[in-house]
Amino acid sequence: MPFVSFPESFEWGAATAAYQIEGAPREDGKGLSIWDVACQQPGRVLGGDTGDVACDHYHRYREDVALMAELGLQTYRFSVSWPRILPFGFGDVNEKGIDFYSRLVDELLAAGIQPCATLYHWDLPQALQDLGGWASRDTAYRFADYGTLLYERLGDRIPRWITHNEARITADLGHRVGILAPGIRDLGITARVIHHLLLSHGLAVQAYRAAGKGGEIGITHANTSFEPDDDAPETTRATELARDFHTRLYHDPVYGRGYPETVRRYHEKQGAPFPVQDGDLEVIAAETDFLGVNIYSRNRVLADSDRGVGYRYAPATLPLTDMGYEAAPHALGDFVRFVSKEYGRPRIYVTENGVCDNTPPVNGVVDDQPRLELLRGFLVGLAEAIGDGADVGGYYVWSFLDNFEWALGYSRRFGVVWTDYETQERIPKASARVYSEVIRRGGVEIP
Ligand code: FCB
Repeated sequence: MPFVSFPESFEWGAATAAYQIEGAPREDGKGLSIWDVACQQPGRVLGGDTGDVACDHYHRYREDVALMAELGLQTYRFSVSWPRILPFGFGDVNEKGIDFYSRLVDELLAAGIQPCATLYHWDLPQALQDLGGWASRDTAYRFADYGTLLYERLGDRIPRWITHNEARITADLGHRVGILAPGIRDLGITARVIHHLLLSHGLAVQAYRAAGKGGEIGITHANTSFEPDDDAPETTRATELARDFHTRLYHDPVYGRGYPETVRRYHEKQGAPFPVQDGDLEVIAAETDFLGVNIYSRNRVLADSDRGVGYRYAPATLPLTDMGYEAAPHALGDFVRFVSKEYGRPRIYVTENGVCDNTPPVNGVVDDQPRLELLRGFLVGLAEAIGDGADVGGYYVWSFLDNFEWALGYSRRFGVVWTDYETQERIPKASARVYSEVIRRGGVEIP
């Protein structure tokens, strides 16, 4: 079978997030997060599922790291639970919380796996939500202080940091659509949240430089690859609008371009402006070392003058994954090419990409063909984008193991390792074996 190689220095990893895998929400002095609280409210999470146990990773991290090593992972992206470190978001430090991540990092390093830490993957301390959450400018400063504490305590052992995971999802699904915690529906608040998340990113990058640790820091955004549905000029314009509202809104400020004019005007017209103060845009543009790219699929775009934003999505034409996303293997490579060109060829890490596929075990074997076929396709596309000049340094599959998929609870599985939630047994799926092989050979077979 034809084979495509990745650069020698390319790093292969897997990603997770604290709330989705750890469990132990009240153990060892941890404070509650907005997700602990949301999960207690009826109707917020499918089936009434909660993250109370999840993958029990808080107690099983050693076995999990051993399995990562067995699969050959070279780097592991996890997130730190802010309320485990600072139960109230600021003030008293919970040493036991720091100790957990310290032990995790030591375990990873001993196994030869490079740690990559995300500061914020959606689990805000509830105490900060009670003070206004991300709608409050103070939260941005609290976030930088929290980052500083982690850089001081763990910065010598963690070479790669990500400030935020998917500010768009926090802002949009948490504060405009309201399907994720904290479940608010208000465009004015959403605009404040967007600005404060980006401001907090810039402050946390500045704090990292001040800490002088010498590793790298960046931000990870949520993406989809936008494709015009036809060749009409209005469709091309609509596709650019979709990119403004989804992609450029979060990337442009980080690359010193401020907010896209189209989005700024829309927000002003709706009475929901971005609360930009003097100097904020300079802080947000603090130089980063890399761009984190999360991407799962594509969306085809059509013009729609009835909608304020001026565009809508065309119906899917490709088969759907168990998440309802179009199975579009070209989406990863296409988006990487786009973002590389748009922002002057930044260093990129694909910090999440993967497939929702609920194929169950049969006689102890999980033969997840849909996942492994789509993964192969994604990787072939990524190799092509690198061949075309994109500077991609690594890839993290989402996810290492099946976990708590937010408002969908445990109903959707993204892991290359199966989690049996009754017994906490882990079963590497066929896709994990294929991924191991990709890592070992430094490339992928072209299907
Ligand atoms: C991303 C999230 C991650 C997971 C995947 C499926 O948007 O960052 O936590 O839920 O989607």
